Amino acid sequence: MKTILVTGGAGFIGSNFVHYLLENYDDLTIVNLDLLTYAGNLDNLADIAEDKRYTFVRGDIHDRALVEELFDKWDFDTVVNFAAESHVDRSITDPDLFLTTNVLGTQTLLDVAKNHWKLDPKDRYSREFKEGVKYLQVSTDEVYGALGPTGMFTETTPLAPNSPYSASKASADFVVRAYDKTYGMPVNITRCSNNYGPYQFPEKLIPLMINNCLAEKSLPVYGDGMQIRDWLYVEDHCAAICAVLEKGALGEVYNIGGNNERANIEIVKLILENTGKSEDLIVHVKDRPGHDRRYAIDNTKITGTLGWSPKYTFQTGMAQTIEWYLHHREWMDKIVSGEYLKYYENMYANR
Ligand SMILES: NC(=O)c1ccc[n+]([C@@H]2O[C@H](COP(=O)([O-])OP(=O)(O)OC[C@H]3O[C@@H](n4cnc5c(N)ncnc54)[C@H](O)[C@@H]3O)[C@@H](O)[C@H]2O)c1
Repeated sequence: MKTILVTGGAGFIGSNFVHYLLENYDDLTIVNLDLLTYAGNLDNLADIAEDKRYTFVRGDIHDRALVEELFDKWDFDTVVNFAAESHVDRSITDPDLFLTTNVLGTQTLLDVAKNHWKLDPKDRYSREFKEGVKYLQVSTDEVYGALGPTGMFTETTPLAPNSPYSASKASADFVVRAYDKTYGMPVNITRCSNNYGPYQFPEKLIPLMINNCLAEKSLPVYGDGMQIRDWLYVEDHCAAICAVLEKGALGEVYNIGGNNERANIEIVKLILENTGKSEDLIVHVKDRPGHDRRYAIDNTKITGTLGWSPKYTFQTGMAQTIEWYLHHREWMDKIVSGEYLKYYENMYANR
């Protein structure tokens, strides 16, 4: 990978990924295409904005003319697609946007990349692509649906998404698969478990709870708080994506997870303990409709075949995360004082 199109690079994982690339690869050109929705935040990239290896472009992955223009200008050999509407609660109130961005936007990227990378784009039967090109779709474990108290998702677990968000991500995965099977396009799909770490928008569990603790506000916990997720520190996710870009077998799906199952309530209590606040701040609110009970990732394929494994334990990752939010209060304050606040009030006012 030499010239890489990162989409959604102003969001949580995308901005961590851009930082990760710049820290770990010298000979690289990165173009970050991001629409800057409510979740995109250029403050996440302020420290590297002047880096000569990096360029930001504001725009929509579903804007075909723009994506074509970028391919013509930069001749990308790699695409990593993070751009998405990513919050399950928002997908319940506005599913249309999720299908447009997550499915049609993905198809636009794939199609432009296919036409640019095929050795003979006019020959509909040719399956030959330029050497060394790859499209990587950043997907999620939520496409597999929910688990009971035992078992784990493997790459062959049938897709059974339960929310408009996960349905849109599963649909995008099928479109990526179709570009491989139909056109022979060099692709990979990664399906990662829940991430945590710096720059996460404070509508998601961990930054929301840290922020509320610091502001001495109540901590709204869905239902009994016993929803179990398999948590991974975001830098480990970035390293896994690089392993798949460099060594992943074409056409393969890789699950990414850290064997780190935790109930939401356990995380909330850990944050309270680390910030020195009382459990009296916890308020149980009505559960999300269709809330998946448990996710767990079997990471045997990526650890066994690509040699990736997480560097961070939950303790080291959480300590680093809480520390980061404590030292970046102004980052959080800027978000919380804006549109997010209105959303937050609507979301939790009547629960
Ligand atoms: N957060 C997690 O725990 C997690 C876990 C597994 C997979 N994922 C996947 O990783 C990806 C990134 O997740 P995240 O948590 O960083 O999301 P995020 O919501 O923080 O960031 C999404 C980014 O995409 C941008 N964007 C949205 N619509 C766009 C469009 N039409 N064109 C261009 N840019 C657009 C936003 O401005 C934002 O910067 C998503 O595809 C998500 O499904 C997330």
